[in-house]
Amino acid sequence: MTTSSSQPTARPNLVGTLIDEDRLWQRHEDLGAIGGTAKGGVNRQALTGEEVEARALIASWAEGLGFSLAVDPIGNMFIRREGTDPDAAPVVAGSHIDTQPTGGKYDGAYGVLAAFEVLEALERNGVKTRRPLEVGIWMNEEGSRFQPGCVGSGVFTGKKDLEPMLDMQDRAGISVREALKPVLGATPTATQRPLNTPIHAYLEAHIEQGPRLETEGLQIGVVTSIQGMRRFEIDIVGEEAHAGTTPRATRKDALSAAVRIITALEELMHDPDDVVRFTVGRMEVSPGSPNVVPGHVHFSIDFRHPDMAVLKERGDAVERIAQEKGAPCPVTVKGFGTNPPVHFPPEIVDIVRRGAERLDLPSMDMPSGAGHDAGLISAVAPVGMVFVPCERGISHNELERASAADLAAGTRVLAEAMVELANR
Ligand code: HGY
Ligand code: MN
Ligand code: MN
Repeated sequence: MTTSSSQPTARPNLVGTLIDEDRLWQRHEDLGAIGGTAKGGVNRQALTGEEVEARALIASWAEGLGFSLAVDPIGNMFIRREGTDPDAAPVVAGSHIDTQPTGGKYDGAYGVLAAFEVLEALERNGVKTRRPLEVGIWMNEEGSRFQPGCVGSGVFTGKKDLEPMLDMQDRAGISVREALKPVLGATPTATQRPLNTPIHAYLEAHIEQGPRLETEGLQIGVVTSIQGMRRFEIDIVGEEAHAGTTPRATRKDALSAAVRIITALEELMHDPDDVVRFTVGRMEVSPGSPNVVPGHVHFSIDFRHPDMAVLKERGDAVERIAQEKGAPCPVTVKGFGTNPPVHFPPEIVDIVRRGAERLDLPSMDMPSGAGHDAGLISAVAPVGMVFVPCERGISHNELERASAADLAAGTRVLAEAMVELANR
């Protein structure tokens, strides 16, 4: 399905119009059915049977178009369309296909399917590019089943070490190494490739996961930066006791300790400008019986801010506050490192913005409140992102919705930017 000429045939301004809105929408419906929930969301957590099924489906689409597949040691998956210069470093676009337990159809999946639609549109229209184009599917971006997130992109770039990440276990004690085996079985024809293979430039399309584009009535967000993030796990050991007989003065109540810690952290994180993002998203209390003093509490902290100094100052105080307020219960604080704020190279931001302009799509520059693989990939390649709106900015929720027209518009901008970069 490709023409014989060895020169790129597309002027960038033609490419965006090749995107097929209906085909892109149907891909979202087909992929979204894997792990689909009754409320119209998706539960396709990292390295589950649902991910095995999703990878096999995407691989079947790719091989049907003559694209090649590759995987690396941490389970990232790549779909490759050759360019006229096979030795040139590829332009990569992608995202993740793992979701939150109560996630939506578009978070992550959109970036993968948008990138795939660009490769398919070029292939079906015989448009060549100098550089190869690849779709990157990064393993375990969400960090829900296996903490932390962005494991695939983090290990790819060397920001996270391979072996400890392979040894990481979920709450059932299953390691990434174990869970990866059936997932790699989903793509038996994929070639093995090492970590950190060259990337000329990386692009990611994503739903905004916030309300700004919808409020402004815009379809396109040109992303300029990603705020920083620090994650912690707090473990509190109390002493189980009888709720009726044990004086409060002698108790080691792990849940009371957690309440004191979280109250103090809420004060630490107070921000009248509402820029700080501080979330306790998961808490386990045991034994969880109404008439037993809790003997053990484990909870998560997700802390974000665009300013590294704030991330450091307030994040570094978490350990001290947890120890002070947790007494007399022993408290263990586990930090998962820091994803520093990332500012995208202006040259890539301009390419994304110009792509929207060529397509007569109004856009606005904006930062990303959510974390993305692009933030990790920025360590090894110039990166850019394009946002499209989602309904009421709702995400990490089964009610996450996006329109076919908006998804296609973002994909057209992605196509323009990918081809411009691929012909440089
Ligand atoms: O948590 C995040 O920012 C991303 O959506 N996983
Ligand atoms: Mn995402
Ligand atoms: Mn997400």
